[in-house]
Amino acid sequence: MSAPTDRIDACVERLRRGALVAFPTETVYGLGAVATDERAVARVFSLKGRPAHNPLIVHVDSPEMARAYVAHWPERAQRLASAFWPGALTLVLARSGSVPDLVTGGGETVGVRCPDHPLALALIGQLGEGLVGPSANPSGGVSPTTGAHVRASFSEDEVLVLDGGPCRAGIESTVLDLTRTPARVLRPGVIGSERIGAVLGEDVLASASAAGGEVRSPGLLGPHYAPNAPVRLFGDQTGLAELLRSCPGGAVVLSRSAMDPGPDAQVLRLPSDAPGYAAALYSALREADALAPALIAVERPPDAGGGGGRGGAESAQDRAIWAAVLDRLTRATKSPDYPSS
Ligand code: TXA
Ligand code: MG
Repeated sequence: MSAPTDRIDACVERLRRGALVAFPTETVYGLGAVATDERAVARVFSLKGRPAHNPLIVHVDSPEMARAYVAHWPERAQRLASAFWPGALTLVLARSGSVPDLVTGGGETVGVRCPDHPLALALIGQLGEGLVGPSANPSGGVSPTTGAHVRASFSEDEVLVLDGGPCRAGIESTVLDLTRTPARVLRPGVIGSERIGAVLGEDVLASASAAGGEVRSPGLLGPHYAPNAPVRLFGDQTGLAELLRSCPGGAVVLSRSAMDPGPDAQVLRLPSDAPGYAAALYSALREADALAPALIAVERPPDAGGGGGRGGAESAQDRAIWAAVLDRLTRATKSPDYPSS
């Protein structure tokens, strides 16, 4: 493989002529286009099959670069950027005039994030401007956490992959609406509302979807993160046995602990610690799906709210990760063509 600088040069050249690249971040791979290039951004939507109302995040290499895309850079944003950037936190703020309508889904806000990955930072730095970066997967599918995942969906003619190996965190960034007080988490991620609230010195509302309230992140409206096979959650060995009885045919079981699935099922073991589990989850869902099972049965994550259910969700960080994992798994179970049990 060529040196990283050569590969970054090739990506910058592609981006400057309006083509697309996939870039690694600490969360998942992004499908990159120059944020102010409307034709390239339109291509991102069409290639992903993404609904036009679902806005894109602009990836920047610094708070200074973020300022170009927002109408105001409030003190709260600066505090959060100082605490968490580069990192898995997307800040939703009032947009500036330089952001095309296409990027914002026609809305008045824009999400900005500085990813914590040396290749992403080098790419954006050399380009000198922001990149849109939705997860590099067909809309509604499982996000990619390796270069091979991206190449499985898109040809290298369409999307040049800047391969940075497996993503460290493995689930998408926390999306935080800073246009209101108190701030509200629109999509839970590795950086939880407890840590955000501690930095802001204010209470932060948990995700609207979890609370059953108004949903303001358009990407969170429908089924999402879903493999082809139906996904169902179970709590313990008894729950698993019931689930497998209700769905005859081969099943794949994703578990954190030792399970006896019986003769018709195969087990994929995932790490039992929160960061390890999150990093491995999307690869495991893809691996399970590739076996074309009748069902993917996933052991429910430990209770994120109670401070120490099974598996012990001890730290604020672990609790945030398990809550984000549960959010993604719950969305994955909402397959429209599977009868609800
Ligand atoms: O970790 C991540 O955020 C990854 C990596 C590549 O950075 N990107 C990512 O992008 O997950 P995407 O497009 O797959 O998901 C972005 C989510 C969507 O649910 C979208 O609706 C929401 O963020 N979003 C983006 N801009 C928004 C805005 N202005 N207001 C509300 N929600 C927004
Ligand atoms: Mg996505």
